[in-house]
Parts: sequence; C-alpha cells; structure tokens
Amino acid sequence: MKKIAVFTSGGDAPGMNACVRAAVRSAIYNGVEVVGIIRGYKGMIEGDFQPLSSHSVSNIIQKGGTILKSARCEEFKTKEGRAKAYDQLVKNGIEGLIAIGGDGSFTGADLFLKDFDIPTIGCPGTIDNDLYGTDYTIGFDTAVNTALDAIDKIRDTADSHDRVFMIEVMGRNSGYIAVQSGIGGGAELVMIPEYQTTSEEVIHALSKGKENKKASSIVVVAEGKVAGRVHDIAKDVKEALPHFDIRVSTLGHIQRGGKPSALDRILASRMGVAAAEALLNGRKNEMVGIIDDKIVFTPFSDAISKSKPLNDDLVKMVNVLSI
Ligand code: F6P
Repeated sequence: MKKIAVFTSGGDAPGMNACVRAAVRSAIYNGVEVVGIIRGYKGMIEGDFQPLSSHSVSNIIQKGGTILKSARCEEFKTKEGRAKAYDQLVKNGIEGLIAIGGDGSFTGADLFLKDFDIPTIGCPGTIDNDLYGTDYTIGFDTAVNTALDAIDKIRDTADSHDRVFMIEVMGRNSGYIAVQSGIGGGAELVMIPEYQTTSEEVIHALSKGKENKKASSIVVVAEGKVAGRVHDIAKDVKEALPHFDIRVSTLGHIQRGGKPSALDRILASRMGVAAAEALLNGRKNEMVGIIDDKIVFTPFSDAISKSKPLNDDLVKMVNVLSI
C-alpha cells in the first residue's frame, strides 16, 4: 500500500485528534503517504482530501473536537453515494482507509467494503462507549470527567438549597456515561436504558432519602432513546412529591468537547498506531479495540451488532452506596 486516507465521522469525541495524529505518524513511519478526508463520508463523496504530513498533525494531541471535521452523511447510505466516494478514492490513488468513529461510521465502512473492495480499519471514537470489541472507546473517559465536574458543581447548589437535581447525561442507547458519572458523583439514583426504572421507583428512592435525613439528592438520568425524557420523569416526581424542590439540568454537548484526558490520549494513540499497522499488514474490515490492556480486532459486523453489556456490579453498587 502506497497511500491511505484517515477520516473522522459521526459525533466528535475528545481524543479523535490524538488518534488521527497516531495513525498519520505511524503510516508515515512505515513509508506510506497519508491524506485526511474532511467531514467523513461527505468529504469522501465530494473529494475533499488534504495531504497530511507528520508536521500537519503537530500540536493537536491535546485538542478536543477533530481537525478533520465530522458529519453524519445520508448520501453515503445509498449505493450511488458510495459509488461516488469510491470513484474519488480511485482518482486520488487511495488504497486503504482508517475510519475513526462510532457504530454509524462502521456500518458505512462495512457496506462500502461489500460494494467495493477497499480495505478499512476502524478506531472506536465515541463518548458513548457503546461498541462491542473494546473495553473503552475514545472520548468516553473525558466525557465522564466532564459530566462529573458538572455534577460536583450542581451538588454545591443542590446542597445550599436542599434541592433534588435530575441531571441528564448523554450516551444514546447506552447507560455507560450515566453509571460511571453517577458513581463518581455520588448520585442517589441512576436511570439507564438497560434497566427500566419507573417514576414510582424514583419517588420511592427520594422519599427514603428524606426519611434518612438527606437534604439534597442527585439523580443521574441517561438520555436513552429520547433525549429530554428527564423532564417527563421530573414532572411525575413533582406531582407525587410536591414538597420537594426539584430542578432539571441537561448537560448536553458540553460532554463532547474539551481537552482529552490522559487516558483518552493514550488510548487513542495506541489505537491509531495499531490501526495503521493493521491496515499495512493486510487486515481489513475490522475495528481496533483494547481489552484487558491488549490490542484486539473485531469484525465491523460484530462491533456494530453485538451489544456491549454494562458491568452489573457497578449498577448494583449505586444502590449500596446511596443509602
Ligand atoms: O453518539 C454521541 C452522541 O453525543 C450521543 O451521546 C447523543 O445521543 C448524540 O451523539 C447526539 O447527536 P447530535 O450531536 O447529532 O445531536
């Protein structure tokens, strides 16, 4: 392989830049030319390519977002869109791809390889930590730390006013961010899509807290399938417990930004290097992951279709620690 391309796609995640840097430098180290595709599959279709040198990825390891920009692309879901993208790759002499993104990005890569034989290796970049085949995804640790910082601050005001705060965190269909930030932030309760907690259970937990002389409480709510559902739950609780002073806070996209944590920078660097080496060694259609501190590869089809279970011990721990 003489020339490869790197792109980021889907929701951005802190550490994507560290991964781009590692993939680019590792490929160049191995004598291969690299281009960056701007705005993921959209840029691939439009032929928006930029040559990348080792210098062009200097001073980005510490930056949030992605220097290659990102987009969600409807056109790539069509065969015509993928054909246009393939033509652009051929025209530019690109023989392999490194995709940094989440399940949508790998679904696209999987379809692409079925239509056109273009080898792709993926690096899991999403704050959601919802991909099978890796203990952690790039951006998750930073997002949890950002959520924690916000929870700590909200706790100060909850405590001053004797209030209940219901805090919605991101994660799409996964409860990973909620569970980890809930434990780290000392939440009284965590609501996640993997377990259906009813409003009645929330009401019961908060009433019990009051009996145990808790003046303020934090409930962390994973957005689940419907962002904003925290407002419906808060409405039920307010109706049942009118004497409680309840506020809702949605953390939103703040969780996607900011400097990547040390863990994310190192995870992203390891994955970027492994992806470039794997592609040059003839691997294709797989996602790089790290399980038990070892680099592993998982076919895209498994990474996107198999569910990644939550650690039940952590979920149970929330109840134990919130008495
Ligand atoms: O996948 C990352 C994520 O931030 C999810 O946690 C969230 O549900 C979604 O993206 C939000 O997407 P958008 O930025 O397109 O609104």
